[in-house]
Amino acid sequence: MEAKLTAIGIFAPEKVIDNHYFEKIVDTNDEWIRSRTGIITRHYAGEDEFTSDLAQKAIENMAAEYHLQLDDVDFILVATVTHDQIMPSMACQLQYRLNMPKAAALDISAACGGFAYGLVLAKGLINSGMYRKILVVGAETLSKVTDFTDRTSCILFGDGAGVVLIEAAEKGNIGASVAGADGSGGQDLYLSTQNTWINGEEIKANNKIVQNGRKVFKWAVSQMALQFNILLEKEGLSVEDIDWFVPHSANMRIIEAICKQVGLPIEKTLESLSTYGNTSSASIPLALYEGLRAGKVKKGDRVMMLGFGGGLTYAGAIVQWA
Ligand code: COA
Repeated sequence: MEAKLTAIGIFAPEKVIDNHYFEKIVDTNDEWIRSRTGIITRHYAGEDEFTSDLAQKAIENMAAEYHLQLDDVDFILVATVTHDQIMPSMACQLQYRLNMPKAAALDISAACGGFAYGLVLAKGLINSGMYRKILVVGAETLSKVTDFTDRTSCILFGDGAGVVLIEAAEKGNIGASVAGADGSGGQDLYLSTQNTWINGEEIKANNKIVQNGRKVFKWAVSQMALQFNILLEKEGLSVEDIDWFVPHSANMRIIEAICKQVGLPIEKTLESLSTYGNTSSASIPLALYEGLRAGKVKKGDRVMMLGFGGGLTYAGAIVQWA
């Protein structure tokens, strides 16, 4: 059997935060944020709203839209860096709440690369014949781990959730895939709950995202352009064969730079950052869903998804929309 992506759902909290919000807390302005990142708004969860709640609603939305039964799901993978708690896992919480008694449940820790990692894992689990119906969730409440004293990072992040259903089929639609890591850049983007070390560098626990934006920016552009071309080669395609490129929505300037390097027109990209900010593992499904809702993605289109993030991690796959 082959892996087939058959359904998608999203959810974002109600509260919308525009760029002017940050003018009151740090030395920044709407024009700087728009021009350097492309972000216009983001959504924040309420105090009593957690990542599991967002994920649950995304799954419920998908189930309602596609008239799905969930009781025969046999694996749930949840990519997140903002678990409600470290233990139990988010996947276990969702498995219980949404009544999926047969499902194995596992969280993925690959930061903004997490959703794409989940896609690659689900493809492998189905192609091996071990599982038949897998949910891959990316969900975050980054507003809860944002450092609102750091103007270089607080403007970037938002909350949201997305999910896809991957099923066993005679003819699948998930083609070439990549997954990898570069642990040497671990200290350039982290979220630590303990005083510790990464690559010999002392890390203070503050439960907030800390990043070296310039270093991550440079790494992301060169690594994503490389992986884009590797995926094309694996699938035997050229850049003209890609109908939609859905990279992790971190910064519009990163996406533009990748497109320039690989020779893809920017109009062929789908992004979620202008509306939702950087939502880490949720950003790819949010962008894809919005692309579908806008009538851009059509049956038969070749969609390349490529995630990257803290770790540093990257993963991606080419999906032919069914
Ligand atoms: N408002 C106003 N000025 C700001 C600012 C803000 N919110 N944030 C930074 N600046 C200032 C800097 O202090 C710096 O000032 P200086 O020249 O006086 O030192 C200047 O703007 C330029 O800083 P720089 O870091 O070069 O800006 P940039 O264009 O690289 O944008 C990021 C900063 C963080 C937006 C950008 O580097 C980025 O998006 N990096 C990748 C982050 C990312 O994707 N992380 C998640 C990966 S999953």
